[in-house]
Amino acid sequence: MNDTSEPAAKGIDHFIGNEGEFPVLGHGDFFNHAGVCPLPNAGADALRRYARQAETVAYVDTGWHRDIASLRASAAAMMNASKEEVAFVKNTSEGISIVATGVDWNAGDRVVTTAVEYPANVYPWMELARSRGVELVMVPEETAGDGSRHVPLEKILAAADHPRTRMITLSHVEYASGQRHDLAAVGAFCRDRNILFCVDAIQSLGVLPVDVKAMHVDYLSADGHKWLLGPEGAGVFYCRKELLERTRPATLGWMNVVDALNYGNYDYTLRPDAGRFECGSYNVPGLLALKASVELLAGLGVGAVSRRIKALTDRLVEGLGGKGYSIVSPRSGDQWSGIVSFVADDPAKHVGISKTLRAEHRTEIALREGRLRASPHLYNTEGQIDRLIHHLPGGGRSEI
Ligand SMILES: Cc1ncc(COP(=O)(O)O)c(C=O)c1O
Repeated sequence: MNDTSEPAAKGIDHFIGNEGEFPVLGHGDFFNHAGVCPLPNAGADALRRYARQAETVAYVDTGWHRDIASLRASAAAMMNASKEEVAFVKNTSEGISIVATGVDWNAGDRVVTTAVEYPANVYPWMELARSRGVELVMVPEETAGDGSRHVPLEKILAAADHPRTRMITLSHVEYASGQRHDLAAVGAFCRDRNILFCVDAIQSLGVLPVDVKAMHVDYLSADGHKWLLGPEGAGVFYCRKELLERTRPATLGWMNVVDALNYGNYDYTLRPDAGRFECGSYNVPGLLALKASVELLAGLGVGAVSRRIKALTDRLVEGLGGKGYSIVSPRSGDQWSGIVSFVADDPAKHVGISKTLRAEHRTEIALREGRLRASPHLYNTEGQIDRLIHHLPGGGRSEI
């Protein structure tokens, strides 16, 4: 390579086990990306740069606005949306609340979801039921033939097959089981029947394929602090172009309007693009850090990232089975995700297990809804997975 050539793009191998890129690797074995991720060096660096700049300059003297515009484009590309369809939000909840408050509901409209959603995708609809007489239908989780837990697609569609159904709202990946829903199938069902489709993508965006066009998604919300490897409080919200005009913003301020920089003219004309959902100043440092991690992931490509996460979670599932744990997460077909939930014979052991892992082995997993949950990211190593299996006590079930 001569001096003028571009440095080679970094492939996934560069990041695996690389403490310089993922400093958390020097602090223990972290497997809770479905909770709150540690920042990669690229994101932390963006924050350090911001802090240095912010000490002495004002917004207009920086490239921050260009960086934020560039993040909007790369976040849009990540889900196959246009940048006009993407707004920045402070978290997933805010995006879902935009949908819940922004659609022209009628009393008696039905909203269908599962009974195992993260509360970010429950309370906005409960409020709608309380205030607008909307009926919330929650489809329960079941045990599948292989012992895993899932909400069957056909049960969701059966619940939605009703003339009053206005919306299906789903997590792409359920936080406690790790089930990945078939968004394309649900989306096609919705589009055929003129039902709106809203997706909480915080447990998938960046590491599993999301294509709002092919999957017929109308609204999507995802904060950046899990699989996108960003800091908390900086997320993205998608609204399909055709729905922008009739989706009212949930929060209003100086920025939702077409002529936002003309402060004194009070022209209350909402922007025609997704900027209409942004009410005021951005979380600039959060977005700059998110930009760094989105670019890292986009540079690798979702195909390579998802294959890596599949390989790590397959290894984990195999090891857990060998150790006498039951796997709660569906793993067949495209139902798998980066979340592996598992249980010992006696769930009363779970708290002790996770505490011991943390205190004695600097190993971080989570407890959710009576299950142990491990969620590795692309940079975790096979050695770390094997160490986790090694440190876990026997799960008490017959080994497979
Ligand atoms: C499915 C799901 N949605 C949303 C969130 C978090 O919501 P927010 O981004 O509003 O903090 C979580 C966090 O655990 C989650 O698992």
